[in-house]
Amino acid sequence: MKFTYYGHSCFSVETAGKKILFDPFISGNELAKDIDINTIEADFILISHGHGDHVADLASIAKRTGAKVIGAYEVIEWAQKQGITNVHPMNFGTATFEFGKLHFVPAWHSSTMPDGTTGGTPGGFVVHAAEKKFYYSGDTCLMMDMQLIPRYTKIDFAILPIGGNFTMDAEDAVIAAEFIQCKNIIGVHFDTFGYIKVDHEAAKSKFSAAGNTLTLPRIGQTIEL
Ligand code: NI
Ligand code: MN
Repeated sequence: MKFTYYGHSCFSVETAGKKILFDPFISGNELAKDIDINTIEADFILISHGHGDHVADLASIAKRTGAKVIGAYEVIEWAQKQGITNVHPMNFGTATFEFGKLHFVPAWHSSTMPDGTTGGTPGGFVVHAAEKKFYYSGDTCLMMDMQLIPRYTKIDFAILPIGGNFTMDAEDAVIAAEFIQCKNIIGVHFDTFGYIKVDHEAAKSKFSAAGNTLTLPRIGQTIEL
């Protein structure tokens, strides 16, 4: 399974020939200026919540690729207003797509669309692909609901925010890793803005002290998982 990082909380996962892109926010990210959004391919685009740092490039990438956009009902209503037609609205629950079963799960955060309309309730995703299972929490603080994740499936890796201020920091993400019973964590939602700059080595050592691995991918980097 290939994981490619596009900065902030934007990444894509390729499995069984399908490319799943998450939370496209690239053109407004100074750190991601070397990424050409017109080269990003996607069969599916998954949106965790409506904030601009998760949807800013959704309309352009969705329209160019024709990818199916999946997210909360209210996020999808907004996407349709942007002229996106290939959509699949959800609320917390499961649905099955070509890449496997998708579980849309809650996150503790807020969700307002860039135009001020509601994005409904923010969430995260458990992706049950044939190759591997993974959890992307979206923007969230540490929450007890994460303890449900291992009841759903044994996950191989998880993508968690570690920047603090708006989400979990590395210390809380170590506890999240314990809740979800996963030792292989990829950190996102760090360094993009002043509020979320992190000391990479300090964050990694918090995880290694707990017997876990924290990977902080470079923007543009592809990792084989
Ligand atoms: Ni957010
Ligand atoms: Mn965010």
